[in-house]
Amino acid sequence: MISRMPETMIAKSDFPNSRKVALVTGAARGIGLEISKVLCDDGFDIVLSDINADGLEIAKKEFENVDRSVWAISADISKLEEAERLIDETVKKFGKLDVLVNNAGITKDALLLRMKEDQWDAVINVNLKGTFLVTRASCKQMLKQKSGNIVSIASVIGLIGNAGQANYAASKAGIIAFTKSIAKEFAAKGIRANAVAPGFIKSEMTDVLAEKVKDQMLSLIPMARLGLQRDVANVVSFLVSEKSSYITGQVLTVDGGMVMV
Ligand code: NAI
Repeated sequence: MISRMPETMIAKSDFPNSRKVALVTGAARGIGLEISKVLCDDGFDIVLSDINADGLEIAKKEFENVDRSVWAISADISKLEEAERLIDETVKKFGKLDVLVNNAGITKDALLLRMKEDQWDAVINVNLKGTFLVTRASCKQMLKQKSGNIVSIASVIGLIGNAGQANYAASKAGIIAFTKSIAKEFAAKGIRANAVAPGFIKSEMTDVLAEKVKDQMLSLIPMARLGLQRDVANVVSFLVSEKSSYITGQVLTVDGGMVMV
């Protein structure tokens, strides 16, 4: 069961079929909220989804003056019933689903020998299994439509690994392999799937880091600045647009040149 489903329809309540619908997981804050804002600016009706129902209530206030329909629905994507209900309710409400952005993700860092089974399970269950569950449910609808676009937020850590983040790195590498597999599976069915791998992105967490730590991070980035949430959101915007219509199964790093593969 979905923990809470606030009736949060704002703006227009009619859904012209010509309008496109984008669902973003982990949209209550951070990169997911920024992606939702940029896609809304692009003209999508937006489904904001997050496990944090209170956070969603706050996030949706940022869309009060938009001329698109913005709906918020809480769901824990790591739970089969909630992931499926999320997509069912979205399709019931809007009649379709054009874009899925798998953004929700967590970290539970520990060096390997200290990593507890529950730290491993939590990260894999949200980041990787959650992506699988929501994508599978979405693809059922997208196949009926013969169109759809999926972007999953991975991480450069999924490409290069990181000490203390074996669980997170494995989950993000898993998302990349998952993306390539479904891109192959659905390429001929009008559904594209790509991943975005952000590097160090400026956030409340990075703002409070010691100057020395920040300098160390910056020394790894050829462009010598942290990424902005908007930098990630703009790439998602490109990947779900017609401008990228011949791109599928790719991973775009958004990291100021930190990882070049
Ligand atoms: P964040 O922690 O600010 O936001 C993540 C959101 O996901 C939160 O609102 C949280 O409530 C939600 N969430 C957590 N578990 C959930 C679940 N089981 N079901 C539904 N929602 C859930 O994170 P941030 O920084 O905005 O990151 C977003 C994505 O970008 C994540 O996948 C993260 O791994 C990835 N990323 C972030 C980077 C960064 O520097 N911030 C760098 C590389 C990747």
